[in-house]
Amino acid sequence: MATILVTGGAGFIGANFVYLQLNEHPEDRVVCIDKLTYAGNLETLEEALKNPNFRFEKIDICDRDAVFALFEEERPDIVVNFAAESHVDRSIENPAVFLETNILGTQVLMDASRKYGVKRYHQVSTDEVYGDLPLDRPDLLFTETTPLKTSSPYSSSKAGADLLVGAYHRTFGLPTTISRCSNNYGPYQFPEKLIPLMIANALADKPLPVYGAGLNVRDWLYVEDHCKAIDLIIRHGKVGEVYNIGGHNEMRNIDIVKLIVEALGKSEDLITFVTDRKGHDMRYAIDPSKIHAELGWLPETMFKDGIKKTIAWYLENKDWWQNILSGEYQNYFDTMYGARLKDAKKA
Ligand code: NAD
Ligand code: DAU
Repeated sequence: MATILVTGGAGFIGANFVYLQLNEHPEDRVVCIDKLTYAGNLETLEEALKNPNFRFEKIDICDRDAVFALFEEERPDIVVNFAAESHVDRSIENPAVFLETNILGTQVLMDASRKYGVKRYHQVSTDEVYGDLPLDRPDLLFTETTPLKTSSPYSSSKAGADLLVGAYHRTFGLPTTISRCSNNYGPYQFPEKLIPLMIANALADKPLPVYGAGLNVRDWLYVEDHCKAIDLIIRHGKVGEVYNIGGHNEMRNIDIVKLIVEALGKSEDLITFVTDRKGHDMRYAIDPSKIHAELGWLPETMFKDGIKKTIAWYLENKDWWQNILSGEYQNYFDTMYGARLKDAKKA
């Protein structure tokens, strides 16, 4: 029986990972810490909280005393760090908290992992650390040896953390692994991100704000497939290694938005082209051949099925996201999109 410490488990991917662990490894104990920022929602963990193998503590990963006290008590075998400020647009408005949580928080967790001798420290990173790829070179993909070359304060903070993880492995011998995944979608994603934002706005017949011309490409992966890949890495991955995770599913933003509009029976008139994101990355595309060859991982959910499941989930769980939209997020939406929508063009 292992104790797995999951940070950021009240967020989108962390919560999906908590449920995967509790379902697939009932012999293990899962301890989750989360600061419950605007992106963390304890309601998401309601079912997990009923499970005797699960414990939740509201802790900021930057709070050294609280983190060390938790490690002292729980002596985790494996640490999986999902906790992060994760939204690029917010990092452009306010970079400081990204550096604090994403870099300094990672340092605190690794210091505690060293002191208490964890068997594996896993850092959940992102393909954004590689920067972007041109649209006219579909042959180019990110591999684990692609140089880090970031665009936003968010991706820079994630790259900074990755470098620190590498340093703790080499200098202190901390048994680390890093995964770098492409864009996730699925249940419990906060409605500031492209897919849930477009679903929520379309259902409310609100404008669908597409940045620039909507030609930017992302490589979409169903969240459960990402969680399964991390599960394989923490149990069978090689210490000191980086693993890219992605499903060879590149799509243009405008095509995703049109697909959502059609699935919900709404009009394309809702599509509104707005001022582009500053420093907007053009294209992400992952080469996942290493994790496939070494650990046998392959994505299981095709995009056409995953997006149907995701839209159905948002339709069936309106309370979950409508509670979020009625709070602080409404101010965020007005601040982030108010000026953009004034200069907008219709599709
Ligand atoms: P999210 O924003 O939905 O959730 C982040 C969680 O971390 C929230 O529950 C939040 O409360 C918590 N948190 C934030 N600051 C904290 C702190 N200081 N201490 C403790 N908890 C804190 O993010 P997500 O989309 O689930 O992403 C999870 C991880 O996966 C991040 O590290 C992100 O960089 C990475 N990632 C995300 C994607 C994606 O498409 N969403 C893809 C690749 C990698
Ligand atoms: O690639 C992995 C990354 O994917 C993760 O590391 C990040 O945590 C995660 O947020 C995500 O980053 P993106 O910036 O790619 O995701 P986002 O959903 O914010 O945007 C996806 C694309 O859609 C991007 O090109 C910007 C565009 N977009 C986004 C929003 C919110 C719009 O056109 N309109 C919008 O309103």
